[in-house]
Amino acid sequence: MNDPAKSASPQTVLVTGAAMGIGRGVAEVLTAEGKNLVLFDLNAEALNATAQALGGKAAVVVGSVANLADCERAVQLAVERFGGLDGVSHNAGIQTYGDAVSTTPELWAKTLDTNLTGSFYVAKAALPELRRRKGAIVFTTSVQGMAAQKGALAYVVSKHGMIGLVTGMAMDEAAHGVRVLGVAPGSVETPMLRWAINQDPNPAALDEEIDAMHPIGRRGQPTEIGEVVAFLLSDKASFMTGETVRVDGGMLARIPGAPKKADGKST
Ligand SMILES: NC(=O)c1ccc[n+]([C@@H]2O[C@H](COP(=O)([O-])OP(=O)(O)OC[C@H]3O[C@@H](n4cnc5c(N)ncnc54)[C@H](O)[C@@H]3O)[C@@H](O)[C@H]2O)c1
Repeated sequence: MNDPAKSASPQTVLVTGAAMGIGRGVAEVLTAEGKNLVLFDLNAEALNATAQALGGKAAVVVGSVANLADCERAVQLAVERFGGLDGVSHNAGIQTYGDAVSTTPELWAKTLDTNLTGSFYVAKAALPELRRRKGAIVFTTSVQGMAAQKGALAYVVSKHGMIGLVTGMAMDEAAHGVRVLGVAPGSVETPMLRWAINQDPNPAALDEEIDAMHPIGRRGQPTEIGEVVAFLLSDKASFMTGETVRVDGGMLARIPGAPKKADGKST
């Protein structure tokens, strides 16, 4: 999306994890911008419902990002339906829990295969077309790629790996005119977050804690991530590559321990 001469709008974007959550939020924002979309997800029923809700014009691919042939099929569909690919927003991912002792080799492999190898496969499949159009790819990583919650080791490793992928791939792709970027969301109201909260014996208390841990005072909404992804994919971000942008309501900018006032509240 860098070269103003290269294509008249609308441009074409592949959105993974598009059936729900952040991927759906990205798809909503890009639909409003008039983009051609290829929506890719494992969950056929939810994906078709999302495609209908977005107006029924998007191409739909049911498959797994952990399967290279499925990723290649999604890119091929973009070429057949829309003539090429200008951008990718990669959101498909899973949340898993466990420390080094409790995480089974199977859970470790599933988490890394989906979140990290899946990111590599999506990029590997899309980059030949992105190079042709001098496009951009934006990976949805996490604040857990920069810091860590307890008891989510495989997830944390997968997200740290994704930020490494952004940095390294950006160096390789710059000479090809492709920009490679990441967004690192804080907590966002999605089915994944709802599932995670429900793992806690006191979900209502955790719900409150999650809002309070963001200095802005609340969790994010999927379209708030989508707006940043849309910006990063656009020519407005033409001098950005190799960067992962926090979209976390200030969460990782906060240092606790400020002195309280007499009423017990922080200054
Ligand atoms: N929700 C949050 O608070 C939050 C915070 C930081 C980062 N993230 C990251 O954002 C991304 C999206 O999260 P979300 O909260 O929207 O999750 P979600 O579970 O609500 O939606 C994820 C979507 O990805 C799809 N998916 C899962 N595995 C897939 C696979 N192998 N192939 C294709 N599609 C697959 C699911 O079917 C689902 O539609 C994830 O990478 C997640 O780690 C989420």
